[in-house]
Amino acid sequence: MKVTVVGAGNVGATVANVLATKDFCSEVVLVDIKEGFPQGKAMDIMQTAHMLNFDTTVTGVTALPGDENGYAPTANSDVVVVTSGMPRKPGMTREQLVGVNAKIVKSVVDQALKFSPNAYFIIISNPMDTMTYLTLKDTKLPRNRILGQGGMLDSSRFRYFLSKALNAAGYPATPTDVDGMVIGGHNDKTMVPLVSIATWRGVPVTQLLSKEALDDVVAQTKVGGATLTGLLGTSAWYAPGAAAAAMVEAIALDAKKLIPCCVYLEGEYGESDLCVGVPVVLGANGLEKIVEIELTGEEKEKFEASVAAARETNSKLAEALK
Ligand code: 2OP
Repeated sequence: MKVTVVGAGNVGATVANVLATKDFCSEVVLVDIKEGFPQGKAMDIMQTAHMLNFDTTVTGVTALPGDENGYAPTANSDVVVVTSGMPRKPGMTREQLVGVNAKIVKSVVDQALKFSPNAYFIIISNPMDTMTYLTLKDTKLPRNRILGQGGMLDSSRFRYFLSKALNAAGYPATPTDVDGMVIGGHNDKTMVPLVSIATWRGVPVTQLLSKEALDDVVAQTKVGGATLTGLLGTSAWYAPGAAAAAMVEAIALDAKKLIPCCVYLEGEYGESDLCVGVPVVLGANGLEKIVEIELTGEEKEKFEASVAAARETNSKLAEALK
């Protein structure tokens, strides 16, 4: 499999780094507008090949916006991961980036699609739900090929915070012991961690943790990205990068994994004409199925609020693209 990762910043370089170690990936092309930076990141990753024992080829490419042939080295990629644009700074919301990132994402997607007409697109740039919607509308590709990365990351954060709360309550859980899913928008205020179906090795966490502890886990999960932005001074990268790589893996291996992804809804969950996180079977055809799980009344209300927030950000797209 050949994968193009656009944006050689922290997130993009992490996606490339994780993918390099995977047997299914023969080639990763890391693209950036900077000269030297993607080449340097690619060379640094390649110099881990001997220690990490991989045969993937990682190359760095500089491509400026509007450069007709800048993306030629990315030709015939199976998957294009888009991380381009500004990350948020402490105190910012993801939604505030719509004005800066919309044009960048549109230009990158257009350039990449020209050379990889059959690629699947995984969008990480923020505000991710709106950037995914923009990609879908701009490319007019079928919805199975446009996937936003948010739910995989938020669910992983949810599992981490659940495992910590379980440990505090006397249950020795690790994040891999815990199953949990977050749906809705990738938004500090409105994402929806599904407490009702979260388990520790099959045991519902609602049987093990107090309402207070669970509320705290939910609150920490929702601001998981903002907490890291505050600690790091910029947006997080290890988990966002690994989350995108896990999505590429599910496509590459036709794994048919149930992963919450941001996809275009056509009536599922009672919504249409927007991209938002829902449980998706991810396989060789990208989005293969949207699984409609039963939500509690409260979760349904929260999902609707999350949808409304995503629509609100989508409504700023036309202005941002002017
Ligand atoms: C995060 O939540 C990058 O939006 C991403 O860390």
